[in-house]
Amino acid sequence: MRFPRAANDPKHLVAGDLSALEPKKIVPIGLALLILGGWAFFDSFSNVGYGPTQPIPFSHKLHAGTNKIPCLYCHSNAERSRHATVPAMTVCMNCHSVVKTDSPYIQKVTKYYQAGTPLPWIRVHREPDYVYFSHQWHIARGFACQKCHGEVQNMDVIRQSKDLKMGFCISCHRQNKAPTDCNTCHV
Ligand code: HEC
Ligand code: HEC
Ligand code: HEC
Ligand code: HEC
Ligand code: HEC
Repeated sequence: MRFPRAANDPKHLVAGDLSALEPKKIVPIGLALLILGGWAFFDSFSNVGYGPTQPIPFSHKLHAGTNKIPCLYCHSNAERSRHATVPAMTVCMNCHSVVKTDSPYIQKVTKYYQAGTPLPWIRVHREPDYVYFSHQWHIARGFACQKCHGEVQNMDVIRQSKDLKMGFCISCHRQNKAPTDCNTCHV
């Protein structure tokens, strides 16, 4: 959680300089801190349930659930790199050059494929820049995607289901005797 820069901008407030402020000014500052505190409180869990509308209604329930396509068929990078990444358009075309070609959504997918540009999917899960996380080690240890992403195979629209906060990471690290030093995840 980062406060907007203006709140601790030296032009407005210098640490240890509170005594220089008249009581009149302390009231609005107190109010501002209260509002920021409330915002921080809500911010701490507001990402659970986040599921933006995507450029086409791609359903994990239909693909990974009903049609039982393995997660790694489309997210194979999860096994070999930090990011799992969303699949390239060629992966969709493995099937959709013949499957459901009369669908306007598939026609949109095909147009992007032919133009050589990816669909502008909206990212759902994201750690702050100061956190180091890699899929590769976790997949190598045999953890199911669902441990951290919930029952994706039942979701029509992908939603974040775990908070993926520090406490979540550390409690699993403790249970599995993985490192918990600060510099494991913060460089
Ligand atoms: C392994 C095969 C396979 C792959 C790969 C695949 N799909 Fe599908 N997709 C299907 C099947 C099967 C259906 C259901 C077709 C039906 O309802 O008859 C489907 C249905 C869809 C539909 C619903 C179409 C409609 O109008 O009902 C969309 C949208 C879609 N896929 C998008 C994608 C996208 C985007 C990708 C790439 C990220 C992708 N699919 C990759 C097999 C695949
Ligand atoms: C047919 C290809 C396909 C399969 C199979 C598939 N996915 Fe996806 N996945 C996608 C596409 C395309 C997106 C981006 C669109 C979206 O978010 O719905 C995506 C998005 C995601 C995201 C969100 C990424 C973000 O932006 O944070 C997660 C998590 C995810 N998939 C997990 C899984 C899991 C777990 C499985 C297996 C149960 C799985 N996927 C199976 C194609 C697939
Ligand atoms: C140990 C927890 C954990 C497991 C297991 C896990 N993920 Fe993730 N996943 C995360 C976290 C944390 C992020 C956000 C990472 C970031 O912002 O760098 C994420 C992000 C993603 C994303 C979007 C951003 C990216 O890195 O490409 C996709 C897609 C995804 N995961 C798919 C999967 C799939 C598929 C599996 C199983 C093969 C899986 N994840 C297993 C924790 C996990
Ligand atoms: C489901 C349990 C689980 C969860 C949840 C989990 N981890 Fe891990 N993580 C592990 C295990 C076990 C290892 C050790 C893997 C190995 O054997 O190398 C590990 C390894 C790591 C490593 C490499 C440590 C090293 O130097 O060897 C990092 C970094 C890491 N995890 C970060 C994270 C972050 C950040 C999160 C939360 C977003 C997270 N992990 C969530 C189980 C988990
Ligand atoms: C297993 C991974 C992991 C380890 C170990 C870890 N952290 Fe974190 N930390 C995270 C993740 C993920 C976040 C970002 C999500 C959040 O806000 O909790 C985070 C966030 C933070 C933040 C910002 C919190 C906020 O509310 O803005 C601080 C400060 C922090 N960590 C300090 C530490 C210190 C100090 C240690 C060592 C005692 C430590 N971390 C060990 C994963 C880890």
